Amino acid sequence: MSGRPRVFVSRMLPGGDAPGSPVADLRARTDLDVWDADGPPLAESLRTRSAPCEGLLTMLTERVDALLLDAAPRVRVVANMAVGYDNIDIPACTARGVLVTNTPGVLTEATADMTWALLLAAARRLPEGERAVRDGEWGPWHPTWLLGHRVSGATLGIVGPGRIGRAVAQRAQGFGMTVLYAGHRAVADFPGSFTPLDDLLARAEYVSMHVPLTPETERMCDASFFARMRPDAIFVNTTRGGVVDQPALAAALRSGQIAGAGIDVMTPEPMPAGDPLLTAPHLVVAPHLGSATLETRAAMARLAVEGLLAGLEGRMPANAVNPEALTAKGRRA
Ligand code: DGY
Repeated sequence: MSGRPRVFVSRMLPGGDAPGSPVADLRARTDLDVWDADGPPLAESLRTRSAPCEGLLTMLTERVDALLLDAAPRVRVVANMAVGYDNIDIPACTARGVLVTNTPGVLTEATADMTWALLLAAARRLPEGERAVRDGEWGPWHPTWLLGHRVSGATLGIVGPGRIGRAVAQRAQGFGMTVLYAGHRAVADFPGSFTPLDDLLARAEYVSMHVPLTPETERMCDASFFARMRPDAIFVNTTRGGVVDQPALAAALRSGQIAGAGIDVMTPEPMPAGDPLLTAPHLVVAPHLGSATLETRAAMARLAVEGLLAGLEGRMPANAVNPEALTAKGRRA
């Protein structure tokens, strides 16, 4: 047993164990245990492997809750390799003096690019066209076949003007779009006009979701949300599936209440192939690929490791989600 902190990493990170990789750096400074299977650890394995540890490096697939924290009483730092941390019970961590870090910033551009990939694919009906070509259903050019929706010059509504919402809005400038955004308050220098949500939904030809999943935003995109959108509008979601009432989205697509949707996130993930949402018309889906570039995932892993080591070594990480945990009464030694 070494004097170094024991750490559990819930998946092999990009770069593997190669010299100079985030895992190798972690191994040099901690007593490291890496879950090296394709799938995530089940809750029971997560509890068992976390039990002797001071630090955890988790993915968005791991649920970090009171049950886990109580089974792992030595844990002082949880570094989540994601910007979203809805998989972590933050009040439960703070109450136990457990510091949580995330990976903001490094995945902003990749996620904004993915948002645009979905927006364009849904607008121009790309998957339908691709299927037609592959299935031999591509007939002679026809003036009314597979008509999509304009993007250049259209109106884009951003719901949630955070980092990723801003990066999506910046890209819209290249398309000469009018950008509206809705949120709690106006944001300085945001490239768009602060607009009440109702007004945004009534005007936008594209509505893109960029709010974190919280009790306030859970299923905020419900039947009434879709009913307030334009019938020629396209809905895009690259944040969390939980912000959408999925049966309501499927119904809105089936009834033609909205024109299409592009979604990268669903509930549950992975979504079973037979889920009724997947048979809704004009739906483009991707399997949670927002941050899935080589460069971005490497940067996320690096940032997660930095946050974990800083927290374990008693330094305040720049990416702390609950800095108050470091001074909490119940702080774990
Ligand atoms: C995040 O970081 O929250 C993303 O969803 C991962 O791609």
